[in-house]
Amino acid sequence: MKWSLTVALSLLSLYGSEAWATQRHLEEDHENEIPSRKFHHKKAGPPDHNKLVEMARYVMHNCDWASIATISTQPAISGFPFTNVKSIVDGSMANSTGMPYFYMSPLDFTARDLTKNTRATVLVSLEETRYCESQKWDPEDPRCTRLMLSGKMKKVKEGTPEYTFAKAALFERHPAMAHFPPDHNWFVAKMKIAQIAMVDWFGGAKYVSVKDYLAYNYTGEEVLHYYNRLHL
Ligand SMILES: *[C@@H]1O[C@H](CO)[C@@H](O)[C@H](O)[C@H]1NC(C)=O
Ligand SMILES: *[C@@H]1O[C@H](CO)[C@@H](O)[C@H](O)[C@H]1NC(C)=O
Repeated sequence: MKWSLTVALSLLSLYGSEAWATQRHLEEDHENEIPSRKFHHKKAGPPDHNKLVEMARYVMHNCDWASIATISTQPAISGFPFTNVKSIVDGSMANSTGMPYFYMSPLDFTARDLTKNTRATVLVSLEETRYCESQKWDPEDPRCTRLMLSGKMKKVKEGTPEYTFAKAALFERHPAMAHFPPDHNWFVAKMKIAQIAMVDWFGGAKYVSVKDYLAYNYTGEEVLHYYNRLHL
């Protein structure tokens, strides 16, 4: 037990330092050619932390995955909170809506739980953009803004304009979705947001009005510009 832990830890640190060295190497080599995430944030970082609604929309739109918590239906942990990872969008790269959209299969833990209880909480963190790391902030540092959105999950009805918009947006940001196994009955889901809790700078929890959050005029085009810089 002790031995395997030691091996695991040394493998981890070996891998960690190699990954770090490779990363450094890449950044030095291509500093002037390939826009790294660091470069991106020097150009267009998050908004002023005092602007809560703007910050909330920025974090949601700039994150491309979320942790999602549901009430488990797995027999051994029935009723326990259970978390999973989902790739998300809140609109197309240049058309943010604030509404988180998901591509789900009924075979997955999350969708199974949602058939019994549609309540969920979604977490996104600014650290997903590597901004916190670039500032040397720990992921739990309150300046490393995170949003916890709670609400009831709903299927988006196939054939509606919202379905077309959300599915295209999901496939734009997550091209791998086009190759997901076709027999898994994929559907598009969204959260009807009941509460937006936020850790944003010092001074305790913040709450953002759902109405102000959804109504905020923001396209989030910086994500498209970043993507284009990476792929041109
Ligand atoms: C952005 O998406 C909304 C749907 O959420 C749509 O009504 C609007 O026309 C879109 N805007 C652009 C510029 O594509
Ligand atoms: C949203 O902001 C843009 C400029 O950033 C402006 O042209 C547009 O009129 C605004 N829309 C609304 C509904 O306020």
